[in-house]
Amino acid sequence: MPKFNSSSKVNTQTIRGLKGRRPITALTAYDYIMARLAGEAGVDLLLVGDSLGTTILGMPTTVQVTLEMMLHHTAAVARAGPSAMVITDIPFPEAHRSQDSLLDASARCIREGGAEGVKIEGGAAMAGKISALVEAGIPVLGHIGLLPQQVYRLGGYRKFGQTPVERETLIADALAVEEAGAFALVMEMVESEVAREITARLKIPTVGIGAGPHCDGQILVSHDVLGLTQGNVPSFAKQYAALGDSMREAFRQYVDDVQNRKHPS
Ligand code: KIV
Repeated sequence: MPKFNSSSKVNTQTIRGLKGRRPITALTAYDYIMARLAGEAGVDLLLVGDSLGTTILGMPTTVQVTLEMMLHHTAAVARAGPSAMVITDIPFPEAHRSQDSLLDASARCIREGGAEGVKIEGGAAMAGKISALVEAGIPVLGHIGLLPQQVYRLGGYRKFGQTPVERETLIADALAVEEAGAFALVMEMVESEVAREITARLKIPTVGIGAGPHCDGQILVSHDVLGLTQGNVPSFAKQYAALGDSMREAFRQYVDDVQNRKHPS
């Protein structure tokens, strides 16, 4: 693991300092090469998201992802040595175990995985746990709105904040996560005007995904950005390349070359 160098590494202070200055850029990364390339492109924060379950492991939801999987992928990302801050998602149901167990899981992400902080899904209900982690020296990225780890309870993925009650709940969640000491807050699938209001009320930066243009930064799943996602791509995810098509075509040409004795030449 490379030595921590605060002058070349994006850290909690860097991220906090970007609020009101310029939008924060964040992407998911699950392996060495993706972290290398996204890091070289200048992204501020790399999230080893539990979306790796659905994106690269072919799982039905993120609920099937384990802590061991998160550690394995975080270590690969950290080995790329990006200047971006590396954050690991605490997978289901680790954040709902005892405080000690969550502290152990988070510490493993940092010590064994090489992450510089963790992300925890949940608002006011998780504030006590977030506060204890921060107290222990573990940076926490909050996450409110759509919580994919709750998909079986919710019955699906949808937008949040479209009713007055949900708006109030989201605002209360955001304030509680900030008060607990999180350094930034992901808002997933939050109604755009509610995201704008929360962004204006918080001192910490907000990072949106499917939450409109008014957040302090944006995060997307790298595989959606690159056109690598097989199956449903969320409508908010802007696709910047069609690498899936390019890869299939390259593999097809290879198969063709071998079958027709053009390779090796
Ligand atoms: O797991 C993930 O990739 C995430 C992002 C969508 C924020 O939580």
